[in-house]
Amino acid sequence: MIVLTGAAGFIGFHVAKMLLSQGHHIIGIDNMNDYYDVSLKKGRLAQLAQNDQFHFYQADISDAAAITDIFKRHGNDITEIVHLAAQAGVRYSLENPMAYSASNLTGQVVMLEAARHAKQLKHFVYASSSSVYGGNTKQPFSVDDPVTNPVSLYAATKRASELLTQSYANLYDIPSTGLRFFTVYGPWGRPDMAYFSFTRDILDGNPITIFNKGEMKRDFTWIDDCVRGIIGALYKPPGGGDDKYCLHGTPHRIFNLGNNKPEKLMDFVDVIEQAVGIKANKKLMDVMAPGDVAETYADINPAVDVLGYHPKTPISEGIPQFVKWYKEYYKI
Ligand SMILES: NC(=O)c1ccc[n+]([C@@H]2O[C@H](COP(=O)([O-])OP(=O)(O)OC[C@H]3O[C@@H](n4cnc5c(N)ncnc54)[C@H](O)[C@@H]3O)[C@@H](O)[C@H]2O)c1
Repeated sequence: MIVLTGAAGFIGFHVAKMLLSQGHHIIGIDNMNDYYDVSLKKGRLAQLAQNDQFHFYQADISDAAAITDIFKRHGNDITEIVHLAAQAGVRYSLENPMAYSASNLTGQVVMLEAARHAKQLKHFVYASSSSVYGGNTKQPFSVDDPVTNPVSLYAATKRASELLTQSYANLYDIPSTGLRFFTVYGPWGRPDMAYFSFTRDILDGNPITIFNKGEMKRDFTWIDDCVRGIIGALYKPPGGGDDKYCLHGTPHRIFNLGNNKPEKLMDFVDVIEQAVGIKANKKLMDVMAPGDVAETYADINPAVDVLGYHPKTPISEGIPQFVKWYKEYYKI
């Protein structure tokens, strides 16, 4: 039995679907917060609920009592945890910092405590982020790079969640894998992300705001590639101190899950325009958005080596599929 936090979220929903299709029994947890349109979260859950191997709890991961209760109820059946619930988004961390400390710091400790007491647990897999590379200029970003310069509170909490996990791996020998995702996109995606809001604004005839005159690059990861990476990781818990990717001899590894192919932001906008069939009204800003970074670029060699991770979907294939879903979902 697999506990999946953030099950009503974008990535969690797709992970749940794939795990269910493989015959797993899932305990989904999500607090259904309104950071973005809750009807999307409800729509994802409605699909998952069609499978009777899926059981859902609306609970907050920063609420230790509620999470302990769920784990007590399912006792010895829990063999894996995929912990994806978090307060995401760089820009919102400027407005509502406390949401990040509750979900990403307290929530991580609560989930680690739950992992520690789950007697049959074989693997704790959790979401981190490319944002931990912050102000790093060395490209591509490698898991061996120092990550000491977060440029947003979101990034700092994601890096902290890795360090909290390292302490639990050290103290309690919990086999753990952290996955640094790089701008994941696809159907049922997140309305706060640029690919989603650009598509919406172009279709609605609204201008799109492009920071730093578009001089940015992003390593975009198609959702199915990301999900295959997460599930590949889930099936391969770290082997212990002899594993060369284990951190400081503990059963804890961290991998980048990106596409290893940064795209220029303006090329990405072009692909959206072509998929939508409308030219965007672009409002170019001189400045970078606060907390943003100019470029992300994942070195994925360790994930290829250990997890058999092979992202294969370029934005020229992924974006049209997203736009198709968008038009169907919003009946355009
Ligand atoms: N999508 C990306 O490009 C991306 C990139 C880097 C990292 N990540 C990380 O991947 C994970 C999943 O991201 P996503 O894009 O699916 O985001 P999402 O916001 O769609 O999903 C997160 C889910 O967690 C839930 N949640 C938030 N706080 C919670 C709490 N305190 N208790 C219970 N549930 C809570 C939300 O309701 C949401 O459904 C997150 O940890 C995020 O930080 C995502």
